[in-house]
Amino acid sequence: MEGAMKLTLIPAFFVLCCCLQGVAQSRGGWGEWGEFSGCSKSCGMGLRTRMRSWYPGENEPAMEEPFTNTEQFTCYEVDCPQNGTWSMWGMWGECTAACGGGQRKRHRDCNNPPPANGGAKCKGEKFDEEDCGPEPCPETPPNFNMSKCDPKKNFTCKNNAMCTDSLHRCDQKVQCSDGSDEMGCFKRGYKIGHVHFSRGTASGDRMSSVLAVLTVLVSTWYIKVFIDYR
Ligand SMILES: *[C@@H]1O[C@H](CO)[C@@H](O)[C@H](O)[C@H]1NC(C)=O
Ligand SMILES: *[C@@H]1O[C@H](CO)[C@@H](O)[C@H](O)[C@H]1NC(C)=O
Ligand SMILES: *[C@@H]1O[C@H](CO)[C@@H](O)[C@H](O)[C@H]1NC(C)=O
Repeated sequence: MEGAMKLTLIPAFFVLCCCLQGVAQSRGGWGEWGEFSGCSKSCGMGLRTRMRSWYPGENEPAMEEPFTNTEQFTCYEVDCPQNGTWSMWGMWGECTAACGGGQRKRHRDCNNPPPANGGAKCKGEKFDEEDCGPEPCPETPPNFNMSKCDPKKNFTCKNNAMCTDSLHRCDQKVQCSDGSDEMGCFKRGYKIGHVHFSRGTASGDRMSSVLAVLTVLVSTWYIKVFIDYR
């Protein structure tokens, strides 16, 4: 934020500029130090500078150029603008249809890190959508007689046009003509029915975990260095 604390850390060093030329018996003296300049950087490490000038004595020749002495201190602006960066994409949500064409969504968050202190927002979309479940749906058997369905043994399809063996519920093979035996198979991470829970490719997931751990390690180190520095 504006007016953030600027920390003066290490008295740097005196820098003498110019050379004293032709000034013999000096009876002059240094003037008062001027005001410190503001920090030269609005973010991170910068310098504050102040200056004083030599005033020649009466017997000294006038100097063609001002003879000055500069003092510098480091300063540190803490609240650097931080641009937002997207998290990794989340898992795909369920397809809106198990067969006959649907869509599924996934999302990501601008929190890795979030924008801070006037940094830029993440560019690009928060949501991603793709087509899924393109296989054609099976047809309802002709003249299907619903009275053959036993609620204890059979799953009644959502369209109420047929039922199927309840063992076929969530077996990743569509039986219902509306695909409803393969819908709603994942609820809050728990599987329903007979689906074997598998997430993407193993190598991809391992890669993500390694990246996540690395990110945490690097961030921790970075924060530590930052704190030590202050
Ligand atoms: C932050 O984003 C702005 C605008 O997109 C860009 O100009 C700037 O270089 C970025 N800063 C960093 C530290 O990436
Ligand atoms: C359905 O089956 C029941 C008994 O199995 C029978 O009584 C009924 O007539 C059948 N309905 C049709 C429309 O075939
Ligand atoms: C109902 O379930 C039973 C036992 O699981 C199965 O034998 C039968 O074929 C099912 N009925 C239909 C219409 O799928």
